[in-house]
Amino acid sequence: MGAPANGALFTADAIKAQLRTGRIGRQLMLLPSVGSTNQEAMALAQQGAEDGTVVVAERQTAGRGRLGRQWHSPAGDNLYCSVILRHLPDKEKLPLIPLASALAVARAIQRVTGLPAKLKWPNDVLAGGRKLGGLLCEGAGIGHADPVVVVGIGLNVNGSRDGFPEELRGIATSLAVELGHRVDRAAMLAAMLGELEQALGSLAGAGADEVVQSYIEHCATLGQRVKVSLSDRDSLEGWAESIAPDGSLLLRLEEPGGRRVEVRAGDVLHLR
Ligand code: BTN
Repeated sequence: MGAPANGALFTADAIKAQLRTGRIGRQLMLLPSVGSTNQEAMALAQQGAEDGTVVVAERQTAGRGRLGRQWHSPAGDNLYCSVILRHLPDKEKLPLIPLASALAVARAIQRVTGLPAKLKWPNDVLAGGRKLGGLLCEGAGIGHADPVVVVGIGLNVNGSRDGFPEELRGIATSLAVELGHRVDRAAMLAAMLGELEQALGSLAGAGADEVVQSYIEHCATLGQRVKVSLSDRDSLEGWAESIAPDGSLLLRLEEPGGRRVEVRAGDVLHLR
């Protein structure tokens, strides 16, 4: 675990030593291999794990992406982590958790590496138009006495282009590919968790508008012609105009009269 080509150790102690959080990561475990950190975190939450518990894995054997996709999760190069949230913002702000979390990842990347990471709505992290990372937020017991949200983050850190399966090579990238050098994963993870704590704090307090505004500034989708898949059968095409205060994508449809619609969930393709 942690084979450091750049001299940087990837251990739970190395991560904790660089954490500057109060809430997130008081409990943090680094597992050598797990099916999915999201699944593991949700199981721990059902057993009573505290708010802010972080599950990190060197590799995932069944890493999950959005919309039932798999997440490529080999050992040694990347970050796979999930954070248990029990102290949730008010109900109307829950849809902003994925956006705030993606914003936190982009801010951490910029802070640690200087790379101006962008976001594809709702929560893909991009560099140079390719996918650097993604988030999968899952909830349980929402609307009941003891709700929990798990924020799962996958970030391609030190992999080479050849290390991606062929079908991902044209659309995925890593920090090392973009920067031309390896990045300290422990420092990157600690920064991500710090930014996550801040963004979620803003969301819970009076800063939701500021989170949405900052998200808009990082969002590569806005101004683009896009196709939004709503299901296997339904899709919309139009121009991505803005993000609503509740996190929806505001889309100007490509039809006579060009209605503007609010898209709450979907899979976006940036059309050229
Ligand atoms: C996506 O872009 O489709 C979301 C990818 C989310 C991947 C991360 S890796 C850590 C956590 N555990 C999982 O099984 N998935 C998320």
